[in-house]
Amino acid sequence: MLEFKQVEYSYKSTDDMLLSHINFTLAPGEFVCLLGKNGSGKSTIAKLANGLRLPLSGEVLLDGKKTLEPQNLFHIRSRVQLLGQDPASQIVSSTVFEELCFGPCNLGLDETEVKKRVAQVLELTELNGLEKRSPESLSGGEQQRLMLASVLVMKPEYLILDESFSMLDPVLAKKLMSIIVKINKSGVAILNISHNPQDLIYSDSALLLKEGTLSKTFKRDEFRELLELLDAEGLITPGSYTKLLMDLKLTPQDEIFMNPESLAKKIMKA
Ligand SMILES: Nc1ncnc2c1ncn2[C@@H]1O[C@H](COP(=O)(O)OP(=O)(O)O)[C@@H](O)[C@H]1O
Ligand SMILES: [Mg+2]
Repeated sequence: MLEFKQVEYSYKSTDDMLLSHINFTLAPGEFVCLLGKNGSGKSTIAKLANGLRLPLSGEVLLDGKKTLEPQNLFHIRSRVQLLGQDPASQIVSSTVFEELCFGPCNLGLDETEVKKRVAQVLELTELNGLEKRSPESLSGGEQQRLMLASVLVMKPEYLILDESFSMLDPVLAKKLMSIIVKINKSGVAILNISHNPQDLIYSDSALLLKEGTLSKTFKRDEFRELLELLDAEGLITPGSYTKLLMDLKLTPQDEIFMNPESLAKKIMKA
């Protein structure tokens, strides 16, 4: 279980807290969406989750182990993986193969296990055949697939996506999200940080970060209520309503928690 307990954070000691009294939990296997406007502190939450930033007060814990205690950080960072938006900034090696071996080798795994994992993630992310290429020579989309592969090769229990696919074209973004859905089904917990309400489609529950505080947790049957809030926040445009409506019609399960008629009326008015 990943837990935030009364977490406060600010980058400058003189400022008001950027985040105040943040409380939430991410349980094994959950898929939670964290929504919020630009600058609301979403990336800061991502960094607090795996100990890249430490709370000024309160605590972040993984299975009861605090990020505030340095001896816990190796354990926490190997289980809580963070995938950002800018793949180039995360590249550390000179070939795709080395890039994928880097993390598992640091975990001290033997060569056979490392090679097995690398082969699995190359397959999953469809990067087979690019092993010898330099990561810099890959396209932006291929680089982001490589970064996804390099977090999956660690076999994380918790995966934090920090607007990871928001710069990609919609087709590739959807493809990568389908990999995320697959690994979530295999038991990996996902915190999907986004400013796009369409990401609700994949989520069991959702939170809104606003003015440094988190909303209550909205379950799927409360997403309509959340959409009202997102609308008031200006996070939903008429276009995204239409798209959401179309996407929600894809499965009968999605129809259950939304009333398409009331959404349609809203679109007509917009
Ligand atoms: N390293 C930093 N130093 C100082 N201020 C920062 C730093 N990183 C982010 N901030 C500020 O903190 C606020 C929240 O940033 P961030 O967590 O990146 O928000 P989001 O991911 O929701 O866009 C912003 O006002 C941003 O300018
Ligand atoms: Mg951010």
